[in-house]
Amino acid sequence: MDTYPKFPKIKNLRVNGFYGYKDIFMEFKDVTVIVGKNGMGKTTLLKLIHSLLINTSDEYLVSICNFAELSFTDDESITFGGLNDEFKRILLEKAVDDRIDEIQKNKKLKSKKTNSIKKIIADMVFNDLFINNKLSDTLKMHKDAIFYTEKTEKYIRNELKIRYISTVNISFNAENNVDVGNSISTNLLDLATNKEMIELLKNDNRLYKDAFLEQVNIMLSDTNKQFFTSDNEYWVFDKNTNKKLTLSQLSSGERQLIYILATAANIGNSPAIFLMDEPEISLHLSWQEKILDVLRKINNNMQIIIVTHSPAIVMNGYMDSYVDIKNIVMRYNHE
Ligand SMILES: Nc1ncnc2c1ncn2[C@@H]1O[C@H](COP(=O)(O)OP(=O)(O)OP(=O)(O)O)[C@@H](O)[C@H]1O
Ligand SMILES: [Mg+2]
Repeated sequence: MDTYPKFPKIKNLRVNGFYGYKDIFMEFKDVTVIVGKNGMGKTTLLKLIHSLLINTSDEYLVSICNFAELSFTDDESITFGGLNDEFKRILLEKAVDDRIDEIQKNKKLKSKKTNSIKKIIADMVFNDLFINNKLSDTLKMHKDAIFYTEKTEKYIRNELKIRYISTVNISFNAENNVDVGNSISTNLLDLATNKEMIELLKNDNRLYKDAFLEQVNIMLSDTNKQFFTSDNEYWVFDKNTNKKLTLSQLSSGERQLIYILATAANIGNSPAIFLMDEPEISLHLSWQEKILDVLRKINNNMQIIIVTHSPAIVMNGYMDSYVDIKNIVMRYNHE
């Protein structure tokens, strides 16, 4: 199902000492849906990926794992935390290989001799790293810091858009009213949605706007409603009552759906990582089954990572994307 990786995407995640007693290894596709019961660590895992990507909250990462490495399809990576033995071994091997390359270049060494001198060079590199403390410098650099390879840092800073949507938070925001300064009260979700909608209407590129409208209307047709836009306005027409409805008159689920889809549309041409925690909370089963398809049709540039209780999310053609959290989390000691 995966399309050719036009942009570097997340390839895999390795975590050591998750909550101090678990390891995680998992691979990602264009769409990855991690399903598991309550308290299995889904939200924590998603927040961990988000923290690595946006380089925040070292303290948060320290409290949930010892080491994490997020690798991309171009073999660049983001790492956090103290190095484990496996990583030290990889570092050492890489240092040996680099030295061999260097020597081969300088001495035009024939490759058949390589193996016989590999051990000598390994000893040299080993002594260099340990006796001259280069490894401990590397270790120090990695301890409690998020470390980007140069290419990844540029990619994240200049190109990659990262969106984190927590439905628990947006359903809370849907009910949480604020006074916007003119004694007009609105809620945080409508404010956020309005901002996304204005951005979408302003965009000259019709492609994402049209895709948004088409898909939002597929969803709204379930309840006999239709979404309309002009140059600077948007509204929903309720065919049951022949009335125009504003955002605030829509149901909480409808408003959340519009927010999610508008956010996806606004990503536009950029490569993006779209993280979602429990999108099913506000969605009826038939919308749960459609949401992935709808998101992909609005924007095909984003890599989607979802954590959820609801296997219904993958039912409509996305079985390949299903990951059971039980299969990626390993405890240190199996009782
Ligand atoms: N530092 C920690 N050490 C050990 N366990 C922890 C730690 N922090 C949180 N937990 C446990 O991890 C679980 C919370 O994980 P998380 O919120 O990621 O679960 P979830 O899979 O998203 O659950 P839900 O489906 O209910 O949202 C809780 O059971 C909590 O007790
Ligand atoms: Mg959760």
